[in-house]
Amino acid sequence: MLSGAIPYNENFMPAELVCFEEKCRARFAITDILYNCPKCGGLLEAAYEPPEQSALMLKRMWRERRMSNTPLDQSGVWRYREFIPFLESYTCVVTLREGNTPLLESREAAQYGGLDRVVFKHQGFNPTGSFKDNGMTCGAAQAMRLGVGRVACVSTGNTSASMAAYASAAGLQPIIFIPHGNISYGKLAQALEYGARTLQVEANFDQILALVRQLADRLGIYLLNSINPFRIEGQKTIMTELMDQRDWRVPDWIVLPGGNLGNTSAFGKALREMQALGLIDRLPKLAVIQAEGSAPFYELMQRYQKQSRGKQECLKSVPHPETLATAIKIGDPVSWPKALHEVTTTGGVVEKVTEQEIADAKAIIGRSGIGCEPASAATLAGIRKLTAAGTIPADADVVAVLTGHVLKDPDYIYRYHTGELDAPDGKRLKSNFGNKPMVVPNDADAIARVLEN
Ligand code: F0G
Repeated sequence: MLSGAIPYNENFMPAELVCFEEKCRARFAITDILYNCPKCGGLLEAAYEPPEQSALMLKRMWRERRMSNTPLDQSGVWRYREFIPFLESYTCVVTLREGNTPLLESREAAQYGGLDRVVFKHQGFNPTGSFKDNGMTCGAAQAMRLGVGRVACVSTGNTSASMAAYASAAGLQPIIFIPHGNISYGKLAQALEYGARTLQVEANFDQILALVRQLADRLGIYLLNSINPFRIEGQKTIMTELMDQRDWRVPDWIVLPGGNLGNTSAFGKALREMQALGLIDRLPKLAVIQAEGSAPFYELMQRYQKQSRGKQECLKSVPHPETLATAIKIGDPVSWPKALHEVTTTGGVVEKVTEQEIADAKAIIGRSGIGCEPASAATLAGIRKLTAAGTIPADADVVAVLTGHVLKDPDYIYRYHTGELDAPDGKRLKSNFGNKPMVVPNDADAIARVLEN
C-alpha cells in the first residue's frame, strides 16, 4: 500500500466503462468486472468527464509534481492522474515509480534508419524492464479497489514479470500462464523471483488466453491482460510523459512494435484524448511494426486499404505465429478493433519486418549504447523500411518506442554476436553487426599481440 499518498482524489470525475463498438456504446459501472461488453462482445474502454482544469493548468501542475517527493507524484503514471481518473481514492495504489523513462537520441540508429534524427522513448527503464509497468500499476490498483485476492495473466513474458511484481507488492496472489519453452529466461526468472505461481502451458499465447478467460470466470480470478481497460489507461501515460518531455511539441511519427496491440490502442486513445483536452494541437501518425511470421495486423491493414467503401474488415488470425522476437509472437491479437481505429485515425501505417532485419536493427541500437530486446528493435527495422519506401521522409520528427530492456533476452544476443542465431524456419541469420568474444590464453604477450592487431 502506498504510504504518504494523497488519500482522496479531490478531482474525482464520474468514470464509466463504455463499449468501444460504435453501434453499441453500452455503458457500465467502473467497478463492474468485465473484459468484454455483455451486450455485443465488443472491447471496453474507460471514459470520463473532462477534468476541471484547463490544459495550461494541467501542464503546469504535472511539471511541478516532478519536484515532489510524494510516491504518487514520483510515479510517471500517477503524476498524470487527472488524465486517468478512474479511482475515487488513491489508497489502493501500489507504485514502483514506473514510467519516468528517458528520451535517448542515437545518430548511428538515425543513419541506419534513413533519418536525420531519431529519438527513442526507452520503456525498458521501467522497474521490471518493460512498458507493461505503466499499465500494471493501474491494473493492480483496480484489483485492490475491487477487493479481489488473486490476479492472473497469460503472457509472452513481460506482462507476467510486471504483474508478478505489482501483485506481490500489493499483497495479491499473482498467477501467470506462459507458453512452455517460448519465453526468454530473463522474463521467466523475474516471474519466479517476484513470487508468481507460474504455469507453463503446452500451447501458444492465443490458445492460452482463451483458456485463461474461461478459468478467470470459473475461479473468480481477476484478469490483468491488456484486454483489461485499466491496463490501457496506465499505458496512455507513456504518450503523456513523452509530450511533457518534449514541452508538448508533437512529433510527426510515433513508431512502436505490435503484438497483442494493447499499446497501439493505448497510444491512440491517449493522443485523441490529449487533443480533445487541448494538451496537443495535432495527432502524430502511428507506425506499428510486426514481425513477418506473426503479422495478422499488417495483413488486416493491407486488406483495409484495398477494401470497398463500407465493407467491414476483420482480422484473420495466424494459427502458428513464428518469430524470435517472442514478445510479439501473437497470431490473434485481441485489441485489433481498437488498434485499427487508432492507426487509421492518425493516418498511420502498419509494416512488417524480417527476422534478419530485427536482429540487425537490434545490434545497431545496442552499438549506440542504448540496447533493447528483440521486439523493440522491430521499430528501427520498420523505420528503415518506411524511409526507403518514402512513407517517412528523412527529415521527419520521429520517436520510436523501445518496449523492453536489453537484458530481457541475453540468449538471443549471444547467439547473434557469435553467428549462431537461427530463424524459426531453421535458417541461420547473418551476424552482420556481430561482436564475437575471443578466448585468449593466460599470457600477457599473447594478449598484447591480439590487442595490437
Ligand atoms: N514489445 C514488448 C517488449 C512486449 O513485451 C510486447 C508485448 C510488445 C512489444 C507488444 O505490445 O501487445 O501491446 O502490442 N508483450 C505482451 C506480454 C503480449 O505478454 O508481455 P502489444
